[in-house]
Amino acid sequence: MRGLKDKVVLITGAAGGIGKATALRFAEEGAKVVVADFVDGMDTVSAVREKGVDAIYVKVDVTDLESAKTMAAKAIEAFGRIDVLINNAGITKDAMMKKMSKDAWDAVIGVNLTGVFNCTTAVLPFMLEQQSGTVLTTSSIVGLYGNVGQTNYAASKWGVIGMTKSWAKEMAKNGLRFNCVAPGFIGTDMVRKIPEQVLQEKIIVKIPAGRLGEPEEVAALFAFLASDDAKYINGAVFSVDGAATL
Ligand code: CAA
Ligand code: NAI
Repeated sequence: MRGLKDKVVLITGAAGGIGKATALRFAEEGAKVVVADFVDGMDTVSAVREKGVDAIYVKVDVTDLESAKTMAAKAIEAFGRIDVLINNAGITKDAMMKKMSKDAWDAVIGVNLTGVFNCTTAVLPFMLEQQSGTVLTTSSIVGLYGNVGQTNYAASKWGVIGMTKSWAKEMAKNGLRFNCVAPGFIGTDMVRKIPEQVLQEKIIVKIPAGRLGEPEEVAALFAFLASDDAKYINGAVFSVDGAATL
């Protein structure tokens, strides 16, 4: 990818799953990586360093604006700038609507929607000062099309699309780009929590590709969208779902 060497990328939820794969992909492109997560991200940091680029781990709770601001400050302290923010931390608390608790609603909105607001708020002053930067956010097939048992999650993943489009309209003139990636079902801990029968009989059978996606297949799209090859792409949503939305 063009233009990623020596860039600084901050990835939330990078201790595992899609975030870790994305950290490794950006490392392969020569970018420096800030691994931000609620849980220990040193495995990701070590794997990134093995690829010959620098990385740090920053503990963050994206639901807390002050924690997000500390995360951004530590990234600046370590590397002097932030070129790419990937809002990737996310959770599920699935339940049928008739059984969904207010706690499950609040928890998912807190991480997946407010968390994206918080981290973008924290990083924006540095990008505006630089007059350059790109913010990528992990939406979902569920944000675009809804899903059984995911009222809270669908609302959060649709919500980040609206935020992203608004930011593109507000800040394209400042040299900033904002885009969403909408993965289908990807083989991570999040999907491993789905009851096996539901996964096999209701989900995988509907994926024309006939399989779950790999985290690396999402990471590749993030790398493209952050690169100079995508410099006129702004305010868009890209699916990576093995045709599951057709
Ligand atoms: N698609 C289609 N049908 C589904 C479904 C799904 N994803 N999930 C559940 N159903 C169906 C069940 O098969 C069942 O159908 P029948 O009544 O015909 O048997 C009905 O909905 C009720 O399901 P349960 O009996 O399991 O009801 P429950 O109250 O015990 O549990 C549930 C409900 C918590 C939603 C549970 O079914 C579940 O966890 N389902 C999976 C939900 C899901 O797809 N989550 C995606 C997580 S991964 C992710 O979110 C990443 C991403 O962005 C794609
Ligand atoms: P994962 O569960 O493997 O990783 C999520 C990471 O987010 C974890 O490392 C977790 O510690 C971190 N996290 C959770 N709450 C946090 C908080 N409050 N502060 C900081 N970090 C926090 O899940 P996966 O699959 O890698 O998910 C990554 C993103 O991709 C999420 O936003 C998810 O909603 C989205 N997604 C996942 C899909 C899938 O099928 N796996 C499909 C579409 C979207």
